[in-house]
Amino acid sequence: MKEISILVTGSGGQLGQELQEIQSQFPKIKFKFFNRAELDITDKKAVLEKLDLLSPDFLINAAAYTAVDQAESDEEKAFQVNVTGVDVLAKACQVKQTWLMHVSSDYVYHHNPERPLLEEDETLAQGVYARTKLKGDQVLQNMDVDYCILRTSWVYSSFGKNFVKSMGRLGRDREVLNIVSDQIGTPTYARELALVIVQMVQTIQAETSNRKKYRGVYNYSNEGVTNWAEFAEAIFKIQGITCEVRKITTEEFGAPAPRPKWSLLDKSKIKEVFGIEIKDWKESLKSCINLLNQS
Ligand SMILES: NC(=O)c1ccc[n+]([C@@H]2O[C@H](COP(=O)([O-])OP(=O)(O)OC[C@H]3O[C@@H](n4cnc5c(N)ncnc54)[C@H](OP(=O)(O)O)[C@@H]3O)[C@@H](O)[C@H]2O)c1
Repeated sequence: MKEISILVTGSGGQLGQELQEIQSQFPKIKFKFFNRAELDITDKKAVLEKLDLLSPDFLINAAAYTAVDQAESDEEKAFQVNVTGVDVLAKACQVKQTWLMHVSSDYVYHHNPERPLLEEDETLAQGVYARTKLKGDQVLQNMDVDYCILRTSWVYSSFGKNFVKSMGRLGRDREVLNIVSDQIGTPTYARELALVIVQMVQTIQAETSNRKKYRGVYNYSNEGVTNWAEFAEAIFKIQGITCEVRKITTEEFGAPAPRPKWSLLDKSKIKEVFGIEIKDWKESLKSCINLLNQS
């Protein structure tokens, strides 16, 4: 197979760092990584210059404004990154004929159809972060550009700040923790998300006649169903932490930004189209915690 070139934006985040970790598994892929300081996705001139210089086959956008609660009082910044930034990338990719692999969120759906959420389900995004992520998706959907959007949920990694690392720390310090148990969904290990995106890239690159058929939205998370309290209990169990989990409601927790109570994603499409095999969330959680224990 011909060498594939991939430019990654937001390489300092969880997904971005996982992509850096896995690159050695793909010697035929030439990755170029840029963190926020090296390439600001809202800087149209800088993005165009980078694409002109590198002419990548694919651009993986791992950059985003992800501070969900902070976004409630920082709407302009969230919009700038999650909407304007995506627009800048999409227009540059359109000009350079680069495929844009973009990452979005379960938050865009925010309703419960009493079955796992499908890509074509209604989107009822609530809260600033969710609305900006949805608008970012719509930028791509309304443009004639080659794109895939991966809508994912509850992302964690051995890098960055996330629930798994926070629980590992807090669980050792506290005897009891109050954790929300009425939000249903599935965690996503960012390392596996990174591998899935690269697998999608390879499939698209290998297609010679009709690549456009791959355009669109794809749900992706690990397999299985859980809630945040049960997720915390699993994190404690794997690490032998004895902290008690007290189950509370979303309302009792009272976070500034609304959170969907139903985040269960139907992954049939990504499995069928790209032949992706997905692990159960508990198995992936163990892999991540093993890595954390080694560091
Ligand atoms: N984390 C989750 O639970 C979750 C759930 C569902 C979907 N997602 C989506 O998954 C994707 C990856 O999330 P993640 O957890 O890897 O996020 P993350 O760890 O917060 O990383 C995002 C990265 O984007 C960078 N960034 C922010 N503004 C930028 C800009 N203008 N130009 C370039 N880079 C910029 C950030 O840099 P600074 O740190 O310097 O600001 C950070 O390194 C995002 O699209 C997110 O919306 C995440």
